[in-house]
Amino acid sequence: MSDQGSSQGNQYPPDPELAKTANVRPEMKDQGLEEFWDNQAKDKISWFEDYDQVLEWNLPYAKWFVGGKLNACYNAVDRHVENGQGDKVALHVVPDDGPDSDQAHDITFAQLQEQVVTFANGLKKLGVGKGVPVGIYMQMIPQAVVAMLACARLGAPHTVVFGGFSGKAVAERCNDLECKVLITQDQALRGGKSADQKTNADEGLDAGPTTVEKVVVVKRTGADIPMSDRDVYLDDLVDGESGDAESCPCEPMESEDLLFLLYTSGSTGKPKGVVHTTGGYLVGVATTHNLVFDVKDDSVYWCAADIGWITGHSYITYGPLVNGCTSVLYEGVPGYPDKEVWWKIVEKYKVSILYTSPTAIRSHMKWGEEHAQAHDLSSIKILGSVGEPINPEVWEWYREYVGGGKAPIMDTWWQTETGHILITPLPGITTMKPGSAQQPFPGVLPEIRDDEGNKLDVEQTGNLVLTAPWPGMMRGLYKDDERFRETYWSKYSDAYFAGDGAKYDADGDIMLMGRLDDVVNVSGHRLSTFEVESALVEHDDVAEAAVAARKDPDTGQAIVAFVSLKGDKQGTEELEQALREQVAQSIGKLARPATVIFAPDLPKTRSGKIMRRLLKNLAEGEELGDTSTLVDPSVVDEMKKQIDG
Ligand code: WT7
Repeated sequence: MSDQGSSQGNQYPPDPELAKTANVRPEMKDQGLEEFWDNQAKDKISWFEDYDQVLEWNLPYAKWFVGGKLNACYNAVDRHVENGQGDKVALHVVPDDGPDSDQAHDITFAQLQEQVVTFANGLKKLGVGKGVPVGIYMQMIPQAVVAMLACARLGAPHTVVFGGFSGKAVAERCNDLECKVLITQDQALRGGKSADQKTNADEGLDAGPTTVEKVVVVKRTGADIPMSDRDVYLDDLVDGESGDAESCPCEPMESEDLLFLLYTSGSTGKPKGVVHTTGGYLVGVATTHNLVFDVKDDSVYWCAADIGWITGHSYITYGPLVNGCTSVLYEGVPGYPDKEVWWKIVEKYKVSILYTSPTAIRSHMKWGEEHAQAHDLSSIKILGSVGEPINPEVWEWYREYVGGGKAPIMDTWWQTETGHILITPLPGITTMKPGSAQQPFPGVLPEIRDDEGNKLDVEQTGNLVLTAPWPGMMRGLYKDDERFRETYWSKYSDAYFAGDGAKYDADGDIMLMGRLDDVVNVSGHRLSTFEVESALVEHDDVAEAAVAARKDPDTGQAIVAFVSLKGDKQGTEELEQALREQVAQSIGKLARPATVIFAPDLPKTRSGKIMRRLLKNLAEGEELGDTSTLVDPSVVDEMKKQIDG
């Protein structure tokens, strides 16, 4: 057996009590696509002017809610204040040193409005207004969210560059979008260490011609940093500016006006500028946030992602705020100031919804459940997972130790390009199977096809596509129609090609099998590297595993496993054999790694993703190329020694 669907593993039926009260209703799946999204658009969003057409579909370009006018900031902030929710907490702000810090504070919707209006009035003085793009290069501080909303208020498209990226990345993206203004902060503060954020940006901007004429600097640490004529402190820019909503009304925008661009890496070439517009995107993020996480008036929601990624855009800034939901905004990293800080946050704010990545959960699992067990996590009702497949092992741990053995886990599949969640279990409806996203969200039409375009039957791995448009879908790649069509719409003439492998299990649930480029072919059998990794982490001694392929004269490809061990466990000959046996037991002999490389940690980028290209190169014995984006490049030297030796 080379293929083991998790339909053979544990199953968790929905809680009947949750089913009674859940926002999502089973009959929503019976509604027509346009009917469903039309209903949601009316329910979730306030329109300055009604739209007269739900969808205009001109493959590959969609227009949603055509003729409608709205403003993202109005929906996220102003309307809640107008509806008497001004005193409700919008953000529980948790600084780098944790919830006990004297810098921890709350921002109500009314305070958020005042901050956004003041910020927007400052930006106006710099010439920012409708259609004038702005770059944002910040960490997880409230002014980052305020900056995004201030741009949206003015109708100025933003592009957020992840705060951990280089100044060069900032400069490239700002030039591409022709940003005249960049918003940054003096210093970053993460894990107890400060870094010169603003100086980083300068290095990028000064390295070549730049479109940026003004840099707005938010004070985080107040450090004495070099300032030039190009720079202005936010405090000085907004000195004397009004925070009254009337002093800076929300700009009425067309549904299809640009809200933001977010750059994401492709498999080759320069980063792709993914285009997201206003109406459809807001309907998509507000609807999915509300229904997937079953958001109620008193929910306390924490998405532990970063605003530099699409998860932060959709599920830290826009989705939750449009829904008027109270959120935690956390500046720090797991493990600082101690291994319990996450659980202290959940306990202090009585977090009811936690949305994070498998990578983060694996860290907590590695440190041991005693840290979670030391805190009262009984407020947790719903858990979420995003960004990569979650190993069944890790899923079970998450549910047991964070979810009190009962919280359902929403394993949400989507992409920067899709804008919002498309495939996910639903609270009170789905019988959950650890390790896969399972079901299309209402109004979403996925299909699994072979290379010739035939729809596949159960248990056959193929390509995940979407056969109909959805509201938050990308509206193209910025100034690159050709690449847009080539990457997503050329494999099939009638569907969006997601680049992910998938199969239906015996019950017709969708199992994501990882990026197509991570599929290994051993003796003509397709294996997901993820399946092998899951098998490896089932072994007690294994903390994390990643698998790559190398060419093999006998089997076509052979599997190389990179493994980091728990605590002070040592990588011995015996353990290597035990791991190969473990994989053979779990999947089949075919999937046994030909080589096991033990390492203190896996090579990760600062965003926490395992750098698979590098592992592939290592596995193949090829040149390694650029390792400068790794958190710890020495990890790779250690691995190379083992492979060479
Ligand atoms: C790729 C998109 C989702 C927003 C953050 C990442 C993988 C994402 C899952 C999941 C299996 C997943 C896919 C996808 N992915 N979520 N629940 N199960 N795989 O956005 O950086 O654009 O990455 O992440 O391979 O294509 P992104």
